[in-house]
Amino acid sequence: MKKKIVIDGGKKLSGTIAINGAKNSVVALIPAAIMANSPVTLEGVPDISDVESLTKIIELMGAKVERQGDTMMIDPTGVKSVPMPYGIINSFRASYYFMGALVAKFGESVVGLPGGCNLGPRPIDLHVKGFEALGAQVDNNFGAMYLKTGEQGLQGTHIFMDNVSVGATINVMLAAVRAKGRTVIENAAREPEIIDVATLLNNMGAKIRGAGTDEIRITGVDELHGTRHSVIPDRIEAGTYLAMAAALGEGEGITVENVLYEHLESYIAKLQEMGVEMTIREDSITVHPVKDLKMTKIVTYPYPGFATDLQQPITPLLLMANGVGELRDTIYEKRVNHVPELARMGGNISVEGNRVIIQGPSKLQGASVKASDLRAGAALVTAGLIAEGTTTVYDVEHVLRGYDKIIEKLTSLGANIRLEDCEEGEYIG
Ligand code: UD1
Repeated sequence: MKKKIVIDGGKKLSGTIAINGAKNSVVALIPAAIMANSPVTLEGVPDISDVESLTKIIELMGAKVERQGDTMMIDPTGVKSVPMPYGIINSFRASYYFMGALVAKFGESVVGLPGGCNLGPRPIDLHVKGFEALGAQVDNNFGAMYLKTGEQGLQGTHIFMDNVSVGATINVMLAAVRAKGRTVIENAAREPEIIDVATLLNNMGAKIRGAGTDEIRITGVDELHGTRHSVIPDRIEAGTYLAMAAALGEGEGITVENVLYEHLESYIAKLQEMGVEMTIREDSITVHPVKDLKMTKIVTYPYPGFATDLQQPITPLLLMANGVGELRDTIYEKRVNHVPELARMGGNISVEGNRVIIQGPSKLQGASVKASDLRAGAALVTAGLIAEGTTTVYDVEHVLRGYDKIIEKLTSLGANIRLEDCEEGEYIG
């Protein structure tokens, strides 16, 4: 049954919410965990549909998975490299991590081409080039990627990434930890999630140095063992709630707990530039109610620059600011599916060439809108909270892929928001 989120907007919010473990980490940590030869326990695993899909996939491979709250115990001792079934593997992007994890563990893998958010073209050529440089043969047959190593297995090598890619950096790192000898990845992505994956792998017995810098050096090992690991907080989830807090906070404001300021510096700098006052502590941030929002310009870059994943969630806040603003996504130029929907809600916003132009302040009105992808969905939920009247967000399955207990969290802050089943024939996607 398709779901929708219904919001009666215009209500001010206050209180405290906590952030969950990072989606973009955990979708790599779970494939990494199956590379071990004994159980791996992950703490702080968010309850999101991407994790559900990953759990189903590794169970199909023979892993035993137990969940208690946000702790997940993965016993990979029975895992086999089985071809990944079509369907579930295409439901999210990070299924591509099974290519690196399985080829490292078994010398072969067959993985359907990944799906996930439609942000325009999302090639995986850098992943493939990395695997080939490590000595794997990679073939694309009927929508699935076939990887195979020769008898000697993967061999350490020197790889220069043409482009800064989170996925390719992690995938090549997964493969290289079991390659013979030393691998150097240059022009590596530096996202915190890469450090998180390297930390898990090192605790499993891998030898990775330099994760978090643009040069990662890996010495291959013969086996990986089980361990216990705590997932880092989700900086994108945190950024989404910080924008909502700046838009709607009242009274004592909104405190976001379990957030690492260091992971959000470029984002917080932008909020400050817009006139948002915050009290920043070791692992929480309080956003104080804002009087006047100043307009700004945002350009996204790889970490530590302004994250592409946060440009959509911050857009409704820009619509509340005074003046003409601009947004340019240098990572995914076509990541603008939220723009027409925000315009339907009364936002003075348009795409001009490779820029989104925003004229504020715009008064938003409730409307029926469609979440075309995860972060566009987050933007529409934020806009629905701000807007006068009722907003219905369709295709919210995208939102539920990445935001754990979003309804409960926003309700606890005082929002009037609910998740409902679509009526028969109400919405045809
Ligand atoms: C990851 C994140 C996603 C985020 C993105 C950029 C996960 C599961 N997803 O996606 O939320 O928006 O990083 O921060 O962690 N590229 C190529 N060839 C490749 C791979 C990428 O040209 O083989 C290009 C992409 O088109 C894009 C850029 O490199 O323009 C960055 O993409 P990448 O960092 O790989 O994104 P993902 O890992 O897919």
